[in-house]
Amino acid sequence: MSETDQDKVAADGPGNWVRDQFERYRDLRGRIERNTLPLATSVDGSAFEFQASLHGLELKRGAYVVLEHEDGNRFGQITELTSSNDRVDVESAPGVTTSILVRRAVGSGLLLDRGGPFHDALARPAVPDEVSAWLDGTRRRDRASLVIGELLLAPGVPAELDSGGFNRHTFMCGQSGSGKTYSLGLLLEKVLAETTLRIVILDPNSDYVGLGRVRDGADPTRAQRHQAIGGDVAVWSNEPGADHALKVRFAELDTRTQGAVLGLDPIADRDEYAVLNDLLRTNDHGKPLITGFDQLIGSSNPSAQHLGMRAANLGVLDWPVWGPEDRSLLQELAAPTSRCTVVDLGSLQTLEEQRLIADAVLGSLWASRRNRQPVLVVIDEAHNICSAEPDNALSRITTDRAIQIAAEGRKYGLYVLVSTQRPNKVHENVVSQCDNLLLMRMNSMADVGDLTRLFSFVPPGLMAGAPSFGLGQALVAGRLFPQGSTYVQMGDRVSQEGGADVPTTWASVRTS
Ligand SMILES: Nc1ncnc2c1ncn2[C@@H]1O[C@H](COP(=O)(O)OP(=O)(O)OP(=O)(O)O)[C@@H](O)[C@H]1O
Ligand SMILES: [Mg+2]
Repeated sequence: MSETDQDKVAADGPGNWVRDQFERYRDLRGRIERNTLPLATSVDGSAFEFQASLHGLELKRGAYVVLEHEDGNRFGQITELTSSNDRVDVESAPGVTTSILVRRAVGSGLLLDRGGPFHDALARPAVPDEVSAWLDGTRRRDRASLVIGELLLAPGVPAELDSGGFNRHTFMCGQSGSGKTYSLGLLLEKVLAETTLRIVILDPNSDYVGLGRVRDGADPTRAQRHQAIGGDVAVWSNEPGADHALKVRFAELDTRTQGAVLGLDPIADRDEYAVLNDLLRTNDHGKPLITGFDQLIGSSNPSAQHLGMRAANLGVLDWPVWGPEDRSLLQELAAPTSRCTVVDLGSLQTLEEQRLIADAVLGSLWASRRNRQPVLVVIDEAHNICSAEPDNALSRITTDRAIQIAAEGRKYGLYVLVSTQRPNKVHENVVSQCDNLLLMRMNSMADVGDLTRLFSFVPPGLMAGAPSFGLGQALVAGRLFPQGSTYVQMGDRVSQEGGADVPTTWASVRTS
């Protein structure tokens, strides 16, 4: 305490002295914090670090920045942003040094242009025109762009995906209500409108049954365009009046699936399994000897009757998925008559039927892989179809098939897009094969941590932004956005949403 301070304490009392000291301390700290310039340094020319004042901070995680330097401006993106506490010693009065705890913003980012190292560049947010100019300079002109909305931190700048990026598998996830289904519908609309890629959708909640139809209030120009391509979408459903009945023939399934449907294990039930195999032999003209369960029950062969009874006891006979009179879903998949096939799994009553159809679809696409016809296979609610812990034989077969397609399908043009709200419930061998990520709001930091490990090409700091996303906001990374990783705000859909949420009219204020 200086002599002046001792005099002050004597005159005003100790309480006032402490208050006075605190005001002085706060004033000094405020001045140091406010005077912290947003300065960036790069030691290698490819990444940078910066510090800035927390007062009126304009720099945001995920945002694009211009780093102004006398040797030339650089363009970058902030990938990490946090605050730091540093001790700064200042001479608060003549001969008195005070140690002040100063809180500042610190962060790091990636440089997105070419250039060498620099020191003390002034960092400021890039204006939308600067972001557009950078994107224009990086875009591939020979590939269709899919405009899915705008960049979240550069309003007005279109968020354009590289359609060619769909030649890799894609993982989409977000918690319930984050906007996955809406956004995926928008993305598929764009794929339909801007490319010639074939699409097969496994749709467990009947969310995409309206994909071919225009929603009320849609932008008229886009609506007209969508109307023209809407005819490319064929829905296969078990709903009455559906255009195409969602049915398969037992004989069309491969033996492993048939065995699983009948609860037969190839080792434990080898005798019955052998009978099944025998019954499903084809005749000399390549036609199966038996095509449906009715023939099992009505057979004079006791072994066949046993299998029929087994199916009856398991309730499998009652599944409405069996036996179309006309074209079956698997025939359609083998020789498609429309560009987009929506398989309305939501129209089926049980998870087992859904799994059976999902398995049949994946099996059929795999069987015709040598045709090398590119197809985007969309698996919504993927935790039910390629589960991390399959709980029965059919589920195991379906998961194995999805893993096989994820591992080897790409070279045959089979590109998977899996969507889920439970990333750790999807088999890791599927997720780890995905080179594209569409991450929407995720509250669970544990899930974000798992995804950060699996998608190590995405800066962890950008992943960490997922819990603060609002509706329709997403992180996009991978081949779909070759310029790096970016935050987007999804735009408006033009197609109808199916499987709408139940309205919350029950929560309205009661008037009587
Ligand atoms: N970008 C958007 N603009 C306007 N409304 C949106 C947008 N995204 C989603 N919604 C609306 O928000 C609600 C929830 O979206 P959505 O059904 O797509 O969520 P979800 O992530 O698929 O949820 P769940 O995991 O429960 O299926 C829906 O009513 C949808 O219409
Ligand atoms: Mg959904």
